[in-house]
Parts: sequence; structure tokens; C-alpha cells
Amino acid sequence: MPIGGLNTAKLIQYANRFGGKVYSIDPLPGFDSEEWERENPDTFTMCRDLSLNVIKTIKDAQCFLIDGDHNWYTVYNELCQIYEAYGEDNFPLVMFHDILWPYDRRDLYYSPETIPAIYRHDYEKKAMAPSSKNLVNEGINGYLFNAKEYGGEKNGVLTAIEDFVKEHPTPNLDIYTIDVLHGLGMIASKEKYPEAVEHFYSASALKGAMQICESERLDKSVKINALTKKYRSFWTPKKSLRQVLKWVRCIRISVRDTARKPHYLRENTILTATAIMPHSLLKKRPNLFVLILWTDIAAYWKILAYMTVMK
Ligand SMILES: C[S@@+](CC[C@H](N)C(=O)[O-])C[C@H]1O[C@@H](n2cnc3c(N)ncnc32)[C@H](O)[C@@H]1O
Repeated sequence: MPIGGLNTAKLIQYANRFGGKVYSIDPLPGFDSEEWERENPDTFTMCRDLSLNVIKTIKDAQCFLIDGDHNWYTVYNELCQIYEAYGEDNFPLVMFHDILWPYDRRDLYYSPETIPAIYRHDYEKKAMAPSSKNLVNEGINGYLFNAKEYGGEKNGVLTAIEDFVKEHPTPNLDIYTIDVLHGLGMIASKEKYPEAVEHFYSASALKGAMQICESERLDKSVKINALTKKYRSFWTPKKSLRQVLKWVRCIRISVRDTARKPHYLRENTILTATAIMPHSLLKKRPNLFVLILWTDIAAYWKILAYMTVMK
């Protein structure tokens, strides 16, 4: 049973091949869950709700994959609900994604209003980078509500799992992690699930994880190369005198052409905007450049000013 959603396709494939049933819990699944339910009536049920409203109603799960709202309150209570529903003797296998950085010791709130205020840390829609404990401007997941503080009590997914395991000494649960892709994790008792524990760190499981990492690395490498090429074609960062003279020439030609052929105003505006944009500004705010291309407003004013001066 995945709590989250995007891994659901793989699990449905697995259930169709080897038997079993997948329940997916997600208030806003990022896929067409109704179509998937129609296509897999025996193996798939979608529960469109928060995990804490649903877990207790599903009594026959053998394995949970927790990958939903990555904050202490939700993960801790998901585990407590599983424990209440299944008891210590039947406590199922529980697996996790995002057990390590950035959400190991930092809460994320998909919908802050669903978390009781006393469990909610101060948060901001701002990014995270491994080099800083504070939220930063350049980093990952800056579009999500992330806790401002890293670490401390009742903060983050791994902290929630550790607290739960500490407070529930039976059934002798251990925490297992594979430290890639933001952390894949599992809690299980060796006595009850010896095969799962053995397989978790087996060469074939680790090889599978490495293959996914390598494929993601290659994808990102290709994207970075494409972006770098695009960026370089806009701008040459060398600030030599020759370069500056080239810019000045470019601006003059552009302004002169615009004065002569007003119908080429847009093309010349774009050229001029590219040439006169300070490099530091372009580096800090590449979006601004796109905005100027889009609206052209700032550059139009500059062109008009140049034209007036040159008259
Ligand atoms: C981290 S994403 C899962 C994606 C997954 N890591 C993957 O790549 O396949 C989290 C998902 O959890 C869902 N979600 C957020 N809060 C939830 C909650 N309280 N219960 C269940 N799902 C939740 C979100 O709608 C989102 O689709």
C-alpha cells in the first residue's frame, strides 16, 4: 500500500503479475487514478484522502510504503495507526522513501493547515541545500512548505521513525536504510521477516538502486549540458575590453537599425536587451531576462531613450 502515489504503477504491475492488491492513499494523486482503477479492477483501489483518515480502515495489508506527507506528525501517527490496527504480532513490513536528507530531520507540510499547530514548526516556501542548515534561495523543493529549522525534537521523517521504534520495543523492529535517492528505508523485525531483511542489503537490491541512480545521473547530466549550451549562446561571460567594445557596437547598430526600420523594433530590442543586461544580474536572475524577452517593456524604454539621445 503506497502512501503517496507515483510508485503505484510499478506496484500494480507487480500485483498483476504475482498476485496481490494495491491500495494507494493520496488526496491528490498525480495520475489518472480513475482510469487505473477501471483498467485494474481486481488489483487496484485508490483512496483519495489523507493517510491518517484511511489507514485504520484497511485491515489486510502485508506491506506499507510510506511516501506521503514528509513530516514528523504524519509519519509518527501513520506508524501508530498501523500498530493499533495490526498489533505487535501482525505488525507488517513498512517501507519508506525520503527517509534521509532533506526530510530526515526537517518537516515538509504539503498542507500546513492539516497539521495541528503544536506539531507544526515554523515553515516557509523556500529551498534546501545540503551545505546549509537554513533554508536557501538556490536549492531543491523551494516550491514546498519546508520547516525553517533542521533538526531538534519532532522534526523530520527519520526522527519520527526512530521515536516510534523507541516507544514500541516489541516486535523488536530495526531500521534499515539505503542511502541514495533521498533514502530508501524499511522497519522490520528480523525474526518475522528474515527474507526481507536479508534481501534489503543483498547485492541484487543494491545493484537495482545503483542502476536507478546512474540513470538519474545521466538524465541530469544531459539536461545540464543542454542548459549550459543554451545559456552560453545567450552570453559570453568574459568581460574583456574587446567584449565590452563589441557590446557597445552591438547596441549602437541595434539602436541605429531600430531608428531606420521601426518594424524591426522587436528583434532589435531583444538583441539590445541581451547585450546591455549586466552579467551579474543575468546570472542571479535568468528569469528576468526571459521576462524582458516576453514583455520587452524595459528594453523599449531604453531604445527610446537611446533614440532621443542620438537624434
Ligand atoms: C513525495 S510525493 C510521492 C512521490 C514519490 N516520491 C515518487 O517519486 O514516486 C508525495 C505525495 O504524497 C501526497 N500526500 C501529501 N500529503 C499526504 C497525506 N497526508 N496522505 C497521503 N498522501 C499525501 C501528495 O499529494 C503527493 O502526491
